Amino acid sequence: MIISLISQKGGVGKSALARLLAVEITKAGWSAKIADLDPAQGTSTKWKARRDVAGFQPDVAVEKFRTVERALNEAARYDLMILDGPAHAEQGGRVMAKASDLVILPTGYSLDDMEPQVEAAYELEDTGVDPERLLFVFCRAKGSDAEDRAARSYLRKARMTVLGPILPELASIRQGHAEGRAASEVPFPKVQEKVIDVAQEIVNQLMKRREAA
Ligand SMILES: Nc1ncnc2c1ncn2[C@@H]1O[C@H](COP(=O)(O)OP(=O)(O)OP(=O)(O)O)[C@@H](O)[C@H]1O
Ligand SMILES: [Mg+2]
Repeated sequence: MIISLISQKGGVGKSALARLLAVEITKAGWSAKIADLDPAQGTSTKWKARRDVAGFQPDVAVEKFRTVERALNEAARYDLMILDGPAHAEQGGRVMAKASDLVILPTGYSLDDMEPQVEAAYELEDTGVDPERLLFVFCRAKGSDAEDRAARSYLRKARMTVLGPILPELASIRQGHAEGRAASEVPFPKVQEKVIDVAQEIVNQLMKRREAA
């Protein structure tokens, strides 16, 4: 199976979600690999190097690929290939999305974050990507319940499906990333619980779409 992480804007939390999914799915006994499709930046690859130096378990597979096609050629070797795309992927994003069982569009609560992602979703739909495969996830989310409700309402009006659980913006997660941990591996049980819920629900959504296909 293939999950892709796509965004117009940079820094919305694609790589954070890729790490979280890779760690939790590997823990669950599946084989998973993160395809780092931003070789110039290599965020996921550098994170993996920090993780290896620290010796954290489980060992998570990360590989840089220069093209989406090369990553797709390897996908069948894993239970789950996670395509961690660059910002502004454009053509590459379309190829990623078309090949994916689930396309995740991370966004914050602000209109500035949501608008370009909705536009990206419409563009993907226009090129033939099944709207059912698109899933918005609130990432690096910071705000009140009222903001959460308003953002969900905006995305609902735009016909988008949004994941229930959110990945909150927290200093502990930022610090964890710097140490080579995924968001679910921070040393605070309440944060862990919340974040594992995000990964679990994404997997549920993946399985649901897989069954429907
Ligand atoms: N939930 C979070 N809480 C705190 N910091 C976070 C969280 N998620 C991501 N970050 C931090 O925010 C920054 C951007 O996140 P990330 O690298 O995941 O975004 P991205 O969409 O992959 O960015 P790019 O478009 O550059 O690839 C990173 O420094 C990351 O460690
Ligand atoms: Mg990234």
